[in-house]
Amino acid sequence: MNRRKSISVIGLGYIGLPTAALLASKGYSVNGTDVDDYVVKTINKGKIHIVEPDLDAYVRSGVAKGKLKAYSKVQAGDIYIICVPTPFHIDSEPPKPNVDFVIEAAKNISPHLKAGDMVILESTSPVGTTEMIKDVLFNNGVDINSIFIAYCPERVMPGRVMVELVDNARVIGGINSQSTEIVSAFYKTFVNGRILETEAKTAEMCKLTENSFRDVNIAFANELSILCDKNGVDVWELIKLANHHPRVNILHPSTGVGGHCIAVDPWFIVSQDHENSHIIRAAREVNDSKPDWVVNKIKAAAKANNTKKIACLGLAFKPNIDDLRESPAVQVVESLLKQGFEVFCVEPNINSHEKYNLIDIKEAIAKLDVIAILVKHDEFSNAKTLTELESKGSLDFCGIYSN
Ligand SMILES: NC(=O)c1ccc[n+]([C@@H]2O[C@H](COP(=O)([O-])OP(=O)(O)OC[C@H]3O[C@@H](n4cnc5c(N)ncnc54)[C@H](O)[C@@H]3O)[C@@H](O)[C@H]2O)c1
Repeated sequence: MNRRKSISVIGLGYIGLPTAALLASKGYSVNGTDVDDYVVKTINKGKIHIVEPDLDAYVRSGVAKGKLKAYSKVQAGDIYIICVPTPFHIDSEPPKPNVDFVIEAAKNISPHLKAGDMVILESTSPVGTTEMIKDVLFNNGVDINSIFIAYCPERVMPGRVMVELVDNARVIGGINSQSTEIVSAFYKTFVNGRILETEAKTAEMCKLTENSFRDVNIAFANELSILCDKNGVDVWELIKLANHHPRVNILHPSTGVGGHCIAVDPWFIVSQDHENSHIIRAAREVNDSKPDWVVNKIKAAAKANNTKKIACLGLAFKPNIDDLRESPAVQVVESLLKQGFEVFCVEPNINSHEKYNLIDIKEAIAKLDVIAILVKHDEFSNAKTLTELESKGSLDFCGIYSN
């Protein structure tokens, strides 16, 4: 594929910016769009607004070489990659996906499209969204028979994005076989992992299935942790023992499931067919209720220690990242604050927070009697800290002692 092709990435967040910067490093001319002015200005200075290993070097180099530029309005390109958010409408029951940002992005692309261009959706989306994009483009005067449209779900894990963007296998589902073929050829120019070709609806369902699979399996572990606690069984030991069975592989319980993917995407399946998605819905409910269970355990410990002061270790939705979106640890902190507790938070991955009282781990151990370990950050796992935490009887909700 001709590397002189220019690429327009719409949405420069956790997915769009790494994708744009990687493509710039591969020789493409990349223009990115974001509706957030701060994001645009930061990137054009060669800096980043999110934490992701190695991303800063990619962006710095892309901007310095003139291969990567950010704009607040969609610019023309030959390949358009949509990486905007797809949250859900929280006020609907069950929660319904909100594809408004995708529709907006498609509308903004439409005036620029010319014959031979590609439009690729990477945002996690309900089944049928790629077809919907086709309709939006058609309704905005685009000759859809002259362009190639495909869905290519993103599977990267925060903390490993720059590696996984290249190494992961990718599923490409076009709205027709030609779109699948042309878009697959483009991904082959920068992905070392396998390119798996299918059609759009299967690719959309594939992404939702992957995250629902994780959610269901984590829910099983979280349910076990509650059953074990009631029976005086150490869930971590139990899981280790059970996993010696050659065909058993139980995941780890935790404070709950957070982030913008696993805690969100299963609802896309449930909302499209709630009569037939019993397990997926139940898993969501089990995982969503885990923070309340954690709060009750912390309250019991506070009562036993006759204190209203609590240290919460970890705010991010998973270990070793700075992302607090949909974080169960944040839900725990919020619930404790609402109930009148004084909460001190230790989050080594952020420097400040407008609302939460941040302290460091040493201060937490020295000053507080009730310590809840909510996220398994590396900073909490060194031998000395672990010994101190354990000797204070800290509550371990993420299996930090089981290592
Ligand atoms: N973050 C992940 O690990 C991950 C993994 C797989 C899939 N996804 C999916 O990728 C998509 C993007 O996720 P993210 O984590 O990058 O979100 P994000 O919120 O970090 O970034 C999205 C960006 O899009 C911008 N934006 C919103 N509307 C826009 C518009 N109309 N035009 C231009 N910019 C716009 C926002 O300002 C924001 O900077 C979502 O569908 C998400 O589910 C994310």
